[in-house]
Amino acid sequence: MNDVAALQDSTTRAFRAQFDADPDGLWFAPGRVNVIGEHTDYNDGFVLPIALPLGTVAAVRRRDDRRLVVHSSEADETREVELGDVAPGSKLDWLAYVAGVGWAAGEQGLDVPGLDIALAADLPQGAGLSSSASLSCVTARAWSDIAGWDLPGDDVAALGRAAENEIAGAPTGVMDQLASVHGRAGHAMRIDTRSIDVTQIPFDLSAHGLSLLVVDSRAPHALVDGEYAERRTSCREAALMLGVPALRDVPLEGLDGTLGRMRSELLRRRARHVITDSARVEQVCTLLTDGGDIRRVGPLLSASHASMRDDFEITVPQVDVLQESLVAAGALGARMTGGGFGGCVIALAEAGSEEELVAAARRAAAEHDFAEPAGFVAVAADGAHRLR
Ligand code: GLA
Repeated sequence: MNDVAALQDSTTRAFRAQFDADPDGLWFAPGRVNVIGEHTDYNDGFVLPIALPLGTVAAVRRRDDRRLVVHSSEADETREVELGDVAPGSKLDWLAYVAGVGWAAGEQGLDVPGLDIALAADLPQGAGLSSSASLSCVTARAWSDIAGWDLPGDDVAALGRAAENEIAGAPTGVMDQLASVHGRAGHAMRIDTRSIDVTQIPFDLSAHGLSLLVVDSRAPHALVDGEYAERRTSCREAALMLGVPALRDVPLEGLDGTLGRMRSELLRRRARHVITDSARVEQVCTLLTDGGDIRRVGPLLSASHASMRDDFEITVPQVDVLQESLVAAGALGARMTGGGFGGCVIALAEAGSEEELVAAARRAAAEHDFAEPAGFVAVAADGAHRLR
């Protein structure tokens, strides 16, 4: 795993090589792992992400005009755009996550200066770890600081989200950008996605002899596709059928009876996933805060996976195989994390068992001729901030 200091140096060098000058400053924003509560964030429910120590570094300098010039080490290219030319429907590819922030700020009536930017990231893309939110949020944080907008975290996250939703065309919920902005070392964020209240919950697994293992299936996932949008539509229809503003409003008590009244079997399963997974967030938070046995979080992770697999149908064989192999090899529980259709599986592991678990996951993937998975231990880190 690279650390932010190394990334900081390489980004500064890339900036100097590109612009023949020093940046005004450097900023960092992380990706995230969602511990539990999947596809609940556009149903006004609860989520529990942590920010990772991995993410995107941006070296940034203010320009005197309204041009945006961005060098990306990952894409290995430099792109330019006039800020006035950015609008919904612009075909910008990765630049949308940067330029879209300027567009969103302009929509808010903010005075938006042009910028020179060099970017570097140490987060795998398309792994469900929100590399896109780390890009849009590092841009929003830097732009706000350089232009003197002085935006609070929620507004930074909102700019990042608007860039993704409106300009990149990815219909995400609110979780990823809030997690990238509000992350705190040693804590998970319980986010009420209706009120946008973020509560920091102590999440220091090592103090309990545990760790959170992330295993990347390397099965690529894509959010800008029909499946995510289809799930959003199904959830809206389910809420309508149940006569509630959002699935968040369906009580867990008496759920079977409530769902039994729904005419569509498919919508019933979609709703059951969202309602039970949001409830599992609350159960996990209770276990994390009441001084009880944190190992009991494990089965809730596995229950969440079963719900995503059977009711919400967003897993793929690659992640199901990893999930099963991790639990069979002794993980206390495991689940896919993120939007789905590939990406990463997280496992609650006894400290010291990680290598064995990753080896078991690799063996299982090889048996099925799947790509070789990669593993790392995730610790909760700080959200978007200025490095210097
Ligand atoms: C993606 C979206 C989030 C959330 C998750 C699923 O990461 O960006 O808003 O909906 O999927 O929980």
